[in-house]
Amino acid sequence: MRVLVTGGAGYIGSHTVIELLAKGHEVVVVDNLVNSSEESLKRVEKITGQQIPFVRMDVCDAQALSAVFDDYAFDAVIHFAGLKAVGESVAKPLLYYRTNLDSTLTLCEVMAAHGVHRLIFSSSATVYGTPQELPLKETSPVGVDITNPYGQTKYFIENILRDLSASEPVWQISLLRYFNPIGAHESGLIGEDPQGIPNNLLPFVSQVAVGKRDAVHVFGNDYDTVDGTGVRDYIHVVDLARGHVAALEHMPAVGAAEAYNLGTGQGTSVLELIKAFEAACGKDLPVEIEPRRPGDIASCYADASKAAAKLEWRAAKTVAEACTDSWRWQSQNPNGYTS
Ligand code: NAD
Ligand code: UFG
Repeated sequence: MRVLVTGGAGYIGSHTVIELLAKGHEVVVVDNLVNSSEESLKRVEKITGQQIPFVRMDVCDAQALSAVFDDYAFDAVIHFAGLKAVGESVAKPLLYYRTNLDSTLTLCEVMAAHGVHRLIFSSSATVYGTPQELPLKETSPVGVDITNPYGQTKYFIENILRDLSASEPVWQISLLRYFNPIGAHESGLIGEDPQGIPNNLLPFVSQVAVGKRDAVHVFGNDYDTVDGTGVRDYIHVVDLARGHVAALEHMPAVGAAEAYNLGTGQGTSVLELIKAFEAACGKDLPVEIEPRRPGDIASCYADASKAAAKLEWRAAKTVAEACTDSWRWQSQNPNGYTS
């Protein structure tokens, strides 16, 4: 299929482009590079040996987006573009609501105008808010006590896309609820390249390992979990990328918007993840226990059986492999794409 990938220069998008090309799909990337660099796509070209058509543009710009649809007959769109920093979304809610909602609305309008109705959307386990049951199933309650505007945008967009698919039975929409993506491509050429101080655990740990930060700060050790630290479902980004290819090849029936958990089904605590990273990088890392981070939940992990049954996809890589791959990327590119 010929696929438009919005936000394809970013962390998950760049890994997904590789897996799409590997399965013989054609890809066009649009991205405004607000949180990425074109270098990631150059590296993807190096890995795949293929040229990737790229247009630098804001997905909220309907005219620029229409021009891309005029140039290519797309079969489907994978929509990664958006802002994703939880803390920033609390400080700048309007920016997050504007960017994430507007880009999705504009994209859907332009798709409809060009007769393209297959859409895969980057949702998040954050739509479950405070989990009411574990493991989380696609049928578990959503929208309960979502603690930040970023999470709300994912929840609102899921609802908008459901309404859209119900309104006109031509749409086929997959809502992929990612759990916690970590790791990097095994080449060490592409990976996660956060700007400033990383919010997420794994990038922070890898920056401590490479000597850019002094110690890992563990946010709370008094949760009701195996060792008191937060438990999450860490999924290798290459598995996650392959989940998008599976979703593309198993779109729901017309008129449907289907949600799928993309996770491993396994929970890992903060201390367990740090240990796995220490094994991967071959050194002990300084750790400091801090108070809980506001808005955090104790545990979050997926029931991934729906994706296994309907998409014929399962996460195959371990947390240990993800740490090894992250370390390769971090140690070979201590300053990310600018090194
Ligand atoms: P990322 O920031 O690396 O990638 C997003 C890309 O979108 C970036 O390249 C950015 O430049 C681009 N972008 C942002 N706004 C844009 C706009 N208006 N027009 C064009 N391009 C724009 O983030 P990621 O980790 O690759 O995440 C991809 C998607 O997955 C996001 O929608 C994110 O919310 C979602 N998601 C990520 C996680 C995670 O932990 N990484 C978890 C759940 C869901
Ligand atoms: N943590 C630390 N120290 C850090 C960073 C995180 O102890 O420096 C802990 C957190 O308290 C939590 C765990 O590590 O227990 C994971 O935290 P992350 O920030 O890496 O991930 P979250 O689960 O909080 O959030 C992530 C994404 C969100 C997404 C959510 C669900 O950042 O965008 O997963 O998919 F919505």
